[in-house]
Amino acid sequence: MSPRPEIKDYIRSIPDFPHEGVMFRDVTTLFADPRGFRMAIDQLLHPYAGVRFDKVVGLEARGFILGGAVAHQLSAGFVPVRKKGKLPGRTIEQSYTLEYGEATVEVHDDAIKPGEKILLVDDLLATGGTAEAGIALIERLGGEVIGCAFIVDLPDLGGRKRLERLGMEVHALVA
Ligand code: PRP
Ligand code: ADE
Repeated sequence: MSPRPEIKDYIRSIPDFPHEGVMFRDVTTLFADPRGFRMAIDQLLHPYAGVRFDKVVGLEARGFILGGAVAHQLSAGFVPVRKKGKLPGRTIEQSYTLEYGEATVEVHDDAIKPGEKILLVDDLLATGGTAEAGIALIERLGGEVIGCAFIVDLPDLGGRKRLERLGMEVHALVA
């Protein structure tokens, strides 16, 4: 590692996980490093200086780790979007496909109020299916997605373009 490591230097790449042909970008090594984690949270927040958010929505699972820290810094609330079957209260759900499979995500139907300003946070943007499902849930509850922030963007998988076509502002630290 160089003397002044950048975000990408902290991210580990693991070939053929969870399936052959997938190069898994593992951010747990970034989270585990005190300087790396602080740098990641600071850089995620950078474009939103002076912007008021009511809530941060984090996408399971690594979006919870980032989203909690980001929400604390913004003095905003935190709302988890979870894989189906994990939330105890009444939920709305949205199905989607991802780089390696299919899934359904849910949010509590009282977690976001109409007109609330939301920052969506996750570790990685690949096809954009997970983020699009999260955005759909937020918008179905009347929330307004002001920004979508990620550590990693995998541009070849088209997620950024997909979200931008929905009118979203996408912020990613490394591509
Ligand atoms: C990963 C990643 C994003 C999603 C991105 O999560 O953390 O949430 O995939 O892929 P997409 O842009 O193609 O939708 P994963 O589905 O592996 O779930 P996990 O965080 O619960 O392990
Ligand atoms: N989610 C979807 N594709 C991924 C990848 N290549 N690395 C980590 N998480 C992912």
